[in-house]
Amino acid sequence: MEEIKAAAEALVKGNLVAFPTETVWGLGADAENPDAVAKIYKAKQRPADHPLIVHICSSEEISQWADVIPEYARELAKAFWPGPMTLVLKRSDIAKDFITGGQPTVGLRVPDHPTALELLREFQKLGGRGIAAPSANRFGKVSTTSAEDVRDEIGAALSDQDIILDGETPRVGIESTIIDCTKSLPVILRPGAITPEMIHDQLGLELGTDEKDIRVSGSHKSHYAPAAKVVLEGEAKPGDGFIALGNIPTPSGVVRLCSPEDVYEYAKELYAALRKADQLGLARVVAIPPEGEGIALAIRDRLERASRG
Ligand code: TXA
Ligand code: MG
Repeated sequence: MEEIKAAAEALVKGNLVAFPTETVWGLGADAENPDAVAKIYKAKQRPADHPLIVHICSSEEISQWADVIPEYARELAKAFWPGPMTLVLKRSDIAKDFITGGQPTVGLRVPDHPTALELLREFQKLGGRGIAAPSANRFGKVSTTSAEDVRDEIGAALSDQDIILDGETPRVGIESTIIDCTKSLPVILRPGAITPEMIHDQLGLELGTDEKDIRVSGSHKSHYAPAAKVVLEGEAKPGDGFIALGNIPTPSGVVRLCSPEDVYEYAKELYAALRKADQLGLARVVAIPPEGEGIALAIRDRLERASRG
């Protein structure tokens, strides 16, 4: 598509391209261009020591960006890429400090979205090796799941040369699972749609535990937070926003923000629901977190962070 080719060219010229992935929209720049990457930090108002995920078009590109790739990381890549999973690996020379926040590791991901993959392939044809992209939202705010949300959220911070690509609604709706692959066992740094059960079943390995020695901005206590106060316990009062699975009845007088039928729909609709609360100017949102393991764990993680905003 012409639009995607133009976007790849914009990246080569050092401009920003916001693009859809299966998780959330990313705000992309050429991962080897320090000036372009600096524009991401400026647009997001994000502290400079936070590392960015480098998006690549296939597993074959891992070895360009990473120096040490444990066998289990190769197996995860084979099983779950393209998909909502980021692998943190010991970096190669092309992963500079301005991408990794000065850390000796790099985060890599092959997204599973037609627009993202086409953009990556077009960029590769022009000599590009990776697109650095955090979620396309201001630092600490709710991630975006539509082109319109990206325009609302950071449109004013972009230049005329930057591009916001439209595309299919992200099928997952919350950010990728981040897995530290620098130890003898994989460690989940941020939960997502690739669950501990899936990783364990795939590898037949136990997972290691997070020693909190790696900086993940999603690990900031408060993150993904709307302007409205998010409350996870207590009764919803008239005028509050309300987020819960569809089988939970709507308390009287509240504004129902979504009624997902299952946990997958919950993840997919969560960020749009939080944004809607702000668009409606609601002061408070009561959210009933889903129970259970799997992706429910990742939803609770995001809701807990939103509630500390
Ligand atoms: O689903 C996603 O992962 C989305 C889409 C656009 O790919 N991206 C995303 O990026 O959520 P961001 O920057 O909002 O969150 C990525 C997290 C950050 O918290 C960052 O600290 C962490 O990944 N990260 C990146 N590189 C890392 C590294 N080398 N070591 C540890 N954490 C890393
Ligand atoms: Mg983010």
